[in-house]
Amino acid sequence: MSEALTTVGLDLPRFREGKVREIYQLGSDLLLVATDRISAFDVVLGQPIPHKGRVLTQISRWWFERTGDIVVNHLISADPDEIIERHPPLAASRERWEGRSMLVRRTEPFPVECVVRGYITGSAWKEYKASGTLAGEALPEGLVESQRLDPPIFSPATKATEGHDENITFSQVRAVLGNAVATTLREISLKLYARARDIAHEGGVIIADTKFEFGVSDEGEILLIDEALTPDSSRFWLLADYEPGRSQESFDKQPVRDYLDGFVAQGKWDKRPPPPVLPPEVVESTSKRYLKAYEMITGSPLISSP
Ligand SMILES: Nc1ncnc2c1ncn2[C@@H]1O[C@H](COP(=O)(O)OP(=O)(O)O)[C@@H](O)[C@H]1O
Ligand SMILES: [Mg+2]
Repeated sequence: MSEALTTVGLDLPRFREGKVREIYQLGSDLLLVATDRISAFDVVLGQPIPHKGRVLTQISRWWFERTGDIVVNHLISADPDEIIERHPPLAASRERWEGRSMLVRRTEPFPVECVVRGYITGSAWKEYKASGTLAGEALPEGLVESQRLDPPIFSPATKATEGHDENITFSQVRAVLGNAVATTLREISLKLYARARDIAHEGGVIIADTKFEFGVSDEGEILLIDEALTPDSSRFWLLADYEPGRSQESFDKQPVRDYLDGFVAQGKWDKRPPPPVLPPEVVESTSKRYLKAYEMITGSPLISSP
């Protein structure tokens, strides 16, 4: 099994490099490779988290296999043998990308992040406290922080290439995508989230909110793309620790946040690069949390003995 990698660095045309993923172009397919990089406070840290890339990829794959009846997704294969069968040159670099990669269909992404919130926290809690609304729509009075929302709420955002995404209203989505597409994306997003929230809850994980992306294929079909329902695209909370009326710990990133908060509190870090170096025990406890998240969601361990 491969070691923790900050960069995978395949010798292929690069489509995009994100904070965590490297995306390569293979004809009309893309290879989405999740590195073991972790970001906190929007800064990528220097120490990779063992198993994180594999956890992200395998959680996405698991959800893609369980939501195909709601919407078609971009996944062609996450099986290394099958990926090599389709793209034989990848055989040479196999141990660098296997397990952490998905071969997907390339689409034209819609320029909207389809966020669904089933619990009120983060920027949504800020908006509600300030104006009693979420994504511009009025919510009932008297909600407390982290309270469960029934029904969940579609709260879209723009895709910012740099910096923070900005929350927008559904009418703004309609103005960008047209009424038919906007309505379809909202409906699909809510269905996906409702299913995932219930499944994760049974495993003891709260998916407080999540972000979906959609794209259109060459044939004009709408596909679910990107990663889906992972700890990087969602807020995961431990159900056993959940208590409305306060903010909740992040299931996966809390050890990292706590450690960095200590530096900020002592005036030793201003949340800009370069970030502090994570000590081995923080790296290890974070790695264990990612593996645990995989196991609680899917019901099986990712590896038999971490
Ligand atoms: N099937 C696809 N077709 C086209 N673009 C895709 C597809 N899947 C994902 N993407 C794009 O890849 C990008 C990943 O970049 P980014 O989110 O910045 O990476 P990271 O999550 O590592 O920070 C997303 O913006 C998404 O729109
Ligand atoms: Mg992303």
